[in-house]
Amino acid sequence: MKIFLDTANIEEIKKACETGLIDGVTTNPSLLSQEASDPIKHIKEIAEIVKGPVSAEVTAIKSDEMITQAKLLSEISPYVVVKIPMTEEGIKATKELSKNGIKVNVTLIFSPSQALLAMKAGAYYISPFIGRVDDISYDGLKLIKDICEIKRNYGFETEILAASIRHPVHFYESAKIGVDIVTLPPKIFWQLFKHPLTDTGLQKFLDDWNLKFKNGLTKEKDRK
Ligand code: E4P
Repeated sequence: MKIFLDTANIEEIKKACETGLIDGVTTNPSLLSQEASDPIKHIKEIAEIVKGPVSAEVTAIKSDEMITQAKLLSEISPYVVVKIPMTEEGIKATKELSKNGIKVNVTLIFSPSQALLAMKAGAYYISPFIGRVDDISYDGLKLIKDICEIKRNYGFETEILAASIRHPVHFYESAKIGVDIVTLPPKIFWQLFKHPLTDTGLQKFLDDWNLKFKNGLTKEKDRK
């Protein structure tokens, strides 16, 4: 399963990439508006750091304008995947762009039917939003499960990118269901490393070792 970072913050991206676990980045207009003065330069900088797929979203409503913006975005870097919203116009644009070899991430997916239409239009990724579905008292993980089942039934090649992740349970349940990618806000990425029993277990091992051996693990000739 691939792990993407869901942020436009350069420092957070650099720090998380140092783990070697980050396969890509997703941005959206809200995230970019918090971080960038020049969105084009900012997307380029992210792509140079992550050296993997970076989703960048169009802000047009009409399909022809979406296509123009998508071409502009895809010229920023070969790593850019163009995010197109799940609307009638968006699906028309997705079909056209995919036909011409431009990778599209259809975003703002909230139902299995929307997912099927986007896959059928040739989307490279689709982004169902788990957290926002939970927010309105529906089951975001059930949505992911249904979409994975539909993908399997028809052998679509589209990758399912679980988005709007709010906590580590969303992460591992998505992995159990079998999504292709999960995109994580940095805070949740770092939470995944943590377990209180790891901390207390490590402390006990170190205390016991230091009590008996005083030294770290060294070659005999280097010991005092
Ligand atoms: C996905 O690509 C979106 O950027 C993101 O996951 C939305 O998450 P939110 O619902 O926490 O804003």
